[in-house]
Amino acid sequence: MENKCGVLLKMVVISFLSLFFMLHLSPTMAQEESLKTIEIDENQSSLPTYIVHVKRPEGRITLQSEELDSWYESFLPSTSESSNEQPRMVYSFRNVVTGFAAKLTEEEVKAMEKMDGFISARPERILSLHTTHTPAFLGLHQGLGVWKDSNLGKGAIIGVLDTGILPDHPSFSDEGVPSPPAKWKGKCEFNAAACNNKLIGARSFQNGRKVAIPPFDDAGHGTHTASTAAGNFVKGANVFGSANGIAVGMAPFAHLAIYKVCSAGGGCAESDILAAMDTAVEDGVDVLSLSLGGGSSPFHADGIALGAFGAIQKGIFVSCSAGNGGPFYGSLSNEAPWILTVGASTIDRSFRATAKLGNGDQYDGESLLQPKDFDSTLLPLVYAGANGNMSSAFCAPGSLNDIDVRRKVVLCKRGGGIGRTEKGQVVALAGGAAMILMDLEINGFTTSADPHVLPATLVNYAAGLKILAYINSTSAPTATILFKGTVIGGSSAPSVASFSSRGPSEESPGILKPDIIGPGVNILAAWPVPVDNNTYSKSTFNVISGTSMSCPHLSGIAALLKSSHPSWSPAAIKSAIMTTADVLNLGGKPIFDQRLLPADIFATGAGHVNPTKANNPGLVYDTKPEDYIPYLCGLNYTDIQVELIVQRAVNCSQVEIIAEAELNYPSFSIVLGSSTQDYTRTVTNVGLANSTYTLDLLVPQGIGMSVNPNKLTFTKANQKVTYSVEFIPQSGSIGKPFSQGYLRWVSDRYSVTSPITIIFK
Ligand SMILES: *[C@@H]1O[C@H](CO)[C@@H](O)[C@H](O)[C@H]1NC(C)=O
Ligand SMILES: *[C@@H]1O[C@H](CO)[C@@H](O)[C@H](O)[C@H]1NC(C)=O
Ligand SMILES: *[C@@H]1O[C@H](CO)[C@@H](O)[C@H](O)[C@H]1NC(C)=O
Ligand SMILES: *[C@@H]1O[C@H](CO)[C@@H](O)[C@H](O)[C@H]1NC(C)=O
Ligand SMILES: *[C@@H]1O[C@H](CO)[C@@H](O)[C@H](O)[C@H]1NC(C)=O
Ligand SMILES: *[C@@H]1O[C@H](CO)[C@@H](O)[C@H](O)[C@H]1NC(C)=O
Ligand SMILES: *[C@@H]1O[C@H](CO)[C@@H](O)[C@H](O)[C@H]1NC(C)=O
Repeated sequence: MENKCGVLLKMVVISFLSLFFMLHLSPTMAQEESLKTIEIDENQSSLPTYIVHVKRPEGRITLQSEELDSWYESFLPSTSESSNEQPRMVYSFRNVVTGFAAKLTEEEVKAMEKMDGFISARPERILSLHTTHTPAFLGLHQGLGVWKDSNLGKGAIIGVLDTGILPDHPSFSDEGVPSPPAKWKGKCEFNAAACNNKLIGARSFQNGRKVAIPPFDDAGHGTHTASTAAGNFVKGANVFGSANGIAVGMAPFAHLAIYKVCSAGGGCAESDILAAMDTAVEDGVDVLSLSLGGGSSPFHADGIALGAFGAIQKGIFVSCSAGNGGPFYGSLSNEAPWILTVGASTIDRSFRATAKLGNGDQYDGESLLQPKDFDSTLLPLVYAGANGNMSSAFCAPGSLNDIDVRRKVVLCKRGGGIGRTEKGQVVALAGGAAMILMDLEINGFTTSADPHVLPATLVNYAAGLKILAYINSTSAPTATILFKGTVIGGSSAPSVASFSSRGPSEESPGILKPDIIGPGVNILAAWPVPVDNNTYSKSTFNVISGTSMSCPHLSGIAALLKSSHPSWSPAAIKSAIMTTADVLNLGGKPIFDQRLLPADIFATGAGHVNPTKANNPGLVYDTKPEDYIPYLCGLNYTDIQVELIVQRAVNCSQVEIIAEAELNYPSFSIVLGSSTQDYTRTVTNVGLANSTYTLDLLVPQGIGMSVNPNKLTFTKANQKVTYSVEFIPQSGSIGKPFSQGYLRWVSDRYSVTSPITIIFK
């Protein structure tokens, strides 16, 4: 099924007519199988929205909105005043794009192409939305380390583009949060009482609508991501009584500004996203968090990449989800090097539900529903797919009609396009007593805790095979489920989730992506409605999974770093996060993937975020916005395409073009043919003024490397030192398309690691 997601993503990319809505994580679904295909535009007569790029008006460089607006209007077809035609202009952009979004016919676009100052127009894409415990898991403790140094994120503003928010949830209380900084210019479109010092802004962007609509969260996703990034402390948070504890976001005292760009029923339109980013930049946010995306696409035709470039030019950090297209290679969204691309990993907490078989074997699985009254005596066990029908194996609606499952434990397979809790409903409707759900091979050991409607557990693929074999081995198989509640511990965490999208980057293979992984499996955070129908307070939470959940963890951590290091650029913050990441799990072994095998760098990026270390990285690889121009020219983008991104005229033939891998990035992705490649990197000293670093190099298999010098000496703060790296091909194949290693600078106090991946051509 995840495979099908990938295909769908590509379809969205290639055709604007495919207005698909994919909400991996809606309240009733909360699972990646729950793919729904809905045509979002009910009004067939309405025109498509185009993103139109134009030149800045000659001789006038001010951003006065009236001037810009009339310049933009001059490109639109004249419409008769009397007609009831819908307004053509949807948004006029001022900060991150020179241009506008408008409703147009193909003929009108053709006519526009002939006008002076026109650059390009393309139909917008529709993108999809891709804790009690995670702060402690990430080493965040009150009064210590980065939470102390950053004052819990005080003063930083995180802008969240998502499905809106439930403003009166206790996670958004402003207890302890100071008033917003003077630079804040945003608005609150809820009634005045709903916003406070925590929730300082809230706006809706829906098809250019001019009237303010309060951005209430009708899906749950936005409330969850916002509280993960910057939720305040809430005691006694739990779901179905599980995971009881204090729920808190990564930056508990940071401010939140909410930009609603997605709806439960409508996906996320690119023009709304661009308008929200354009506005957020002007409002004065410090960090932007986007748990949504639409697959790989050229950066000049990718609204999030465009908006993010405008943001980093103003010093705003942009964190985005990597996508839920894993475990397949080349399945990423949000690949631009000026974005932090975040994959998802497990944490060391499970909602344990153990499948116990008649032969005494036990297999640990997970369920959010932990019924206390379930009598764990053995019941007959039946495999729903025993009749050889795949539809029955997946427990599809109606597929159990001819199978006697009454008062039995039913084994179903995950996937097949049917939601996990939906399968439980099918089993319950057919009279089943309980359900054991088994992972597919691609899910490996990644399980998910779900709010099932009957006693159930989801076990990993290996366990599923053993249960199938047991069913085969006996004439009267039996089983039951033992509910064990919340269990903390497990040395294999963090491991990469099966769904987490993998590199290499399709658009720019010379930049390693994803950048980092963070918690994204079974994450508890605020939810607008009770999931169990028994909770009568506003203090409601839900547990869901996705790179949508890992992204706001990193957004919150970036806000902490911004608070403790106000002068750091977005690239410096990203470097600090990447070069200090953990590459070992809690058990001291290399981080695993969903197969419990060592994960490769295309799954982990630099590794698992370590906020404490990121706060004190020693050295950073910094990059200025203009440094991306030689890189973009090097991607062979046309002058105009580069101009769309950087918003000024560029003549690539006058630019000293660089290869992708020459960008001063904190990691290396080298596409290696038969010739040697040489690069330089520059590190800036943000650690002790006097420090000396020596080289620790793990040369990837199948190549030679040389680094010069092999010792870096600093005598001043912010001093820059440049070194060179050579990647030397060796004859003979190693029988693999990729190999990996690292380049690390080590002082007595710091360790600055850059992962290296070699892609053999
Ligand atoms: C669809 O568009 C037409 C023409 O603009 C308008 O008259 C009609 O009310 C719209 N219908 C809906 C359901 O919005
Ligand atoms: C499998 O079961 C479904 C639902 O009961 C049914 O519609 C379908 O025809 C069956 N397929 C086969 C190959 O028997
Ligand atoms: C169970 O038996 C069926 C048919 O006899 C066979 O196709 C299947 O591979 C067996 N499964 C396992 C896990 O042994
Ligand atoms: C909660 O109640 C709604 C409406 O009555 C129902 O559709 C839903 O299935 C219930 N959820 C649970 C977990 O019982
Ligand atoms: C850009 O074009 C040049 C010349 O055709 C080619 O050598 C180079 O590989 C291209 N670069 C990329 C990133 O495609
Ligand atoms: C770009 O620079 C080249 C070389 O200097 C020049 O020949 C060309 O006319 C310039 N292009 C534009 C669009 O100015
Ligand atoms: C760094 O070392 C130099 C020479 O060893 C010394 O003069 C200077 O005071 C030191 N600076 C700091 C900040 O310790």
